[in-house]
Formats: sequence, structure tokens, C-alpha cells
Amino acid sequence: MVVLGIETTCDETAAAVVERLDDGPGKILSNIVLSQVNEHAAFGGVVPEIAARAHVEALDRIIAKAMADAGQTFETIDGVAAAAGPGLIGGVIVGLTTAKAIALVSAKPLIAVNHLEAHALTPRLTNAVPFPYCLFLASGGHTQIVAVRAVGHYELIGTTVDDAIGEAFDKTAKLLGLGFPGGPQVEQEALQGNPVRFVLPRPMHGRPEADFSFSGLKTALRLEAEKIAPLSDQDVADLCASFQQAVVDVVLDRLRAGMRLFRERYGAPNALVAAGGVAANQALRKVLNRLAFESGTVLVIPPPALCTDNGAMIAWAGAERLAFGLTDPLDVAPRARWPLEECTGVGKPA
Ligand code: KG4
Ligand code: ZN
Repeated sequence: MVVLGIETTCDETAAAVVERLDDGPGKILSNIVLSQVNEHAAFGGVVPEIAARAHVEALDRIIAKAMADAGQTFETIDGVAAAAGPGLIGGVIVGLTTAKAIALVSAKPLIAVNHLEAHALTPRLTNAVPFPYCLFLASGGHTQIVAVRAVGHYELIGTTVDDAIGEAFDKTAKLLGLGFPGGPQVEQEALQGNPVRFVLPRPMHGRPEADFSFSGLKTALRLEAEKIAPLSDQDVADLCASFQQAVVDVVLDRLRAGMRLFRERYGAPNALVAAGGVAANQALRKVLNRLAFESGTVLVIPPPALCTDNGAMIAWAGAERLAFGLTDPLDVAPRARWPLEECTGVGKPA
């Protein structure tokens, strides 16, 4: 089964072709990602209108390249998948409408994929992880612990009550005069810094439920920075290191609670899986490793290019859904908001 996947929910214009064998992992035949980061950098964040226009300009070319690299045509593929949300609605409309047009002219099934579902299923593309498993989704827009029980069956175990984890990194970077996106820069600075110089809070620590909060941490960091302004290079590095240490401590504590809840509700998970751009952070990966080890499960983190937004994850989720006959009509609506638990599958998971 060969599926074309299109991703336009944020600031990456992406298309890919993925093959799904009857069982086991998938095979990426092509995976083209065009980042708009330069278009948005001057604004310190993604500007929705600029993103939508950039998707319109680039998408045809990106799809043509993905098809050519994969050696496929619209006649040879088995389906067309697009991220139908959640995301910036202008961009979602561009990708989904394009997918509908291709599906219509080539008489192939359309699969309207939930972007979060695609992140959730990516470890099955790379590692053939069996259900159920525990997902930690950590990106610029999302911070969620999810029980992935079957295709279309996802249950939220914990989420952030305010900022997303990547957003916290980005806001910290902005406050300290580092560039956008901030996560990689904060991580780089932290390597030179002292993680115990500043006393920062660990929001939600010790709570039995598995939710996150990052806005108090951000405020505490700002107050510390204001106290010692103007900041030297070492001050910036120490603030980054102290911030990252607090985030990592929070993740360890909150995921411990999340894994406990998972076990109580669904039994032992087959893996702890991390996805989203923040999963690229090395300090975070260390604690995830520790957590997997202490809970007697394996840690699966897709390679960085599949952790951040890409077309292959959409194509793969499309193929997983198509295998169950889960296709969508050509009038399916794009959705700015689309919680993972509102996805549908077939039957009930064990
Ligand atoms: O998944 P992603 O590419 O896009 C979405 O948000 O959907 O994630 C981007 C986020 C940004 O907030 C960025 O600062 C963060 O991931 N990020 C990192 C690192 N690399 C990217 N955060 C911490 N450490 C990193 N190395
Ligand atoms: Zn994403």
C-alpha cells in the first residue's frame, strides 16, 4: 500500500510517499520538507497569513518532487492523505484542498489525518511498535501524555494547563535575546551554563494526575533575569541551564505520574515513545531513557527529521487508516481545533 502524505498545518510545507507492508514497519520512498523558518524569523514566531501564502506557493512543487523521488505517479499510489488539523487554518485548507483535488482527478481514496495522530503513529513507521504504548508529545504547540491503544483510539492521560513545552523554550529564548525557534539555542547555551545557579520552580511537582504547567516557570525566569540585568554571556548560559534543568525535572516527575496512570488503566505499555520537536533535546532524552529503564519498558524516539513536522508521518497515518478502510469524503472539513481523543477508529481496543 503506497500513500502520498501532505503536511501544511504550521510552518513546514511537506510531502512524502510511504509504503506500508502487510505488517511491520513502513518504508519511506520520499520525504520532502520545506521550512518557512526564514519567512517568520523577523517576527519571532509563526505568522499564520504568511504561512498560508507560503504553502500555496510551494506545495505543488514539493508534491511533484516527492512523487518523482518515490518513482510514483497519481495512478500508481493507493491513497492521498493530508493533515486536516489541528493547526493554522489557512495552511490546513491549502494542504487538504490540494489532496482533495488529487484524490478527485485520480479517483483515489482521501484520508483526512489528524496531525497529532500522525505524530502518535510515527514510531510504528520506524520501529513497528505494537499497541498499546505511551506517547509523550512535546512540540511548540502541544505537551501531551497519550495512551495509544489502536489506530484511531487515543486517550489523553495528561496535558499542559497553559504553555506548551516548546513554547516555554521559545519564550525563554526570546526573553534572553536568542533567536527563533528557541529550543535548540537554549539547549546550546545550557551546555556552557550552571544548572543550579538560579532557583526556579518545578510546577505541578508530586501531583498524582499527570498534567503540566510552564507559565510559572517562565515568569520566575524573567524575574531572575530582571534582578541581574544587564546580562553577561555567562548569565544567559546559566539562566538557560537552570531553565532546562527545571523543565527536565518537571518532565521526569510528570511522566512518572503519567506512566503510573497508564499502567493502572491499560496495563504495561509496550514502549515509551517521544515525538515532537522538543524530543530532539539531549537533556530531555537522558531523562526519558532513565524513565523507560525504571519502568521496565523500551524508549522509542523516531529520528529528529521524523520527530518534527513532516509529510512521511501523515502518509504513514494515512496508510494505517486506509488499511482499516478508514477513508474520508471529499467534503470533509479542515479543523483548526481537533483533539486527539476525537479521532475515530474501528471497533474497541482490547
Ligand atoms: O514539532 P515541532 O517541529 O513543531 C510544532 O510545534 O508542531 O516543534 C517545534 C518546537 C519549537 O518550540 C522548538 O523550540 C522546539 O520544538 N525544539 C526544541 C529543540 N529543538 C526544537 N526544544 C528544546 N530543545 C531542542 N533541541
Ligand atoms: Zn507537529
